[in-house]
Amino acid sequence: MNGQASRLIQLRQLEEREKQFPASKIVSICSGKGGTGKTFFAANFAYQLSNLGKKVLLVDLDLNFSNLNILLNQATQEVISEFFEQKKSLREIVFKYNKNLDLVFGDSGREDYPRVSKEVLDYLFISLSRISDDYDFIILDSSAGADHLTLHQLVRSDYNIIVTSPEPTAVMDAYVIIKLLNSSNYAGEKLVVVNKCSDEEDAGAAFANLSVASKHFLGEEPNFLGSISFDSAVHKSIVHQELLVEVAPQSQPAGEISSIVKRFSTITQVANNNHSRQII
Ligand SMILES: Nc1ncnc2c1ncn2[C@@H]1O[C@H](COP(=O)(O)OP(=O)(O)OP(=O)(O)O)[C@@H](O)[C@H]1O
Ligand SMILES: [Mg+2]
Repeated sequence: MNGQASRLIQLRQLEEREKQFPASKIVSICSGKGGTGKTFFAANFAYQLSNLGKKVLLVDLDLNFSNLNILLNQATQEVISEFFEQKKSLREIVFKYNKNLDLVFGDSGREDYPRVSKEVLDYLFISLSRISDDYDFIILDSSAGADHLTLHQLVRSDYNIIVTSPEPTAVMDAYVIIKLLNSSNYAGEKLVVVNKCSDEEDAGAAFANLSVASKHFLGEEPNFLGSISFDSAVHKSIVHQELLVEVAPQSQPAGEISSIVKRFSTITQVANNNHSRQII
């Protein structure tokens, strides 16, 4: 057999094994405390990743408190509850935002919101894995805290980006998330973003406190993904229902989000290279 033919066979085998052991691509954006900026970050992060040429699916999983449609000024037609009620498939509720970015919107304030059990959430993860070949990353915007359902979601994700702010209450609640992931034997990567910072010192101090507590009580340190400044441009972009990175790419927080996206791409590239090496 010539070299080219055997290489082709090797590639086929690799593809088959990749199907059995898919690369890591599910990313939850979470927080202990509410209002730390998860939805703002998730939308801008997803958009910037898609700008780097990655195919991204962003799913609003803040069940019945969905904001993504408002943030992006989109009238929602298909919503995730229709999927939970098995009225529509996941593909049928995907909204094309642009060439590389797809969205799944949620609902808000439905009085008869379907009960979402762990099994229903598992059904979502199975359906996500079925369409995952279409995407480089699947990003899940979560509700704050870690009730049993949210924790189940976080534990099933390959990466958790924990968004906190420098306030001690937010740092404490971020620590609780790390602790709960730890006690659930979470095997994925925990990454921290400190949002709403007044300066770098502010961000550094918050992360240091989180890191020291995690090391002391849990024997592990989370990874610092980056910080984002508190800036009125963020508020303005939300009021105008626009993406900050799109309308004010020169602003400080937009630049910081771009740096976070680049760091995240590097981390995931290394992880996926290691993964490919393991399955060869
Ligand atoms: N870097 C920032 N600078 C200034 N304001 C910010 C920043 N990040 C977020 N905010 C403000 O914080 C508020 C909450 O943001 P967002 O809705 O994204 O938080 P959340 O974590 O998704 O909240 P929830 O827990 O309710 O889902 C928004 O009104 C936004 O204007
Ligand atoms: Mg939110």
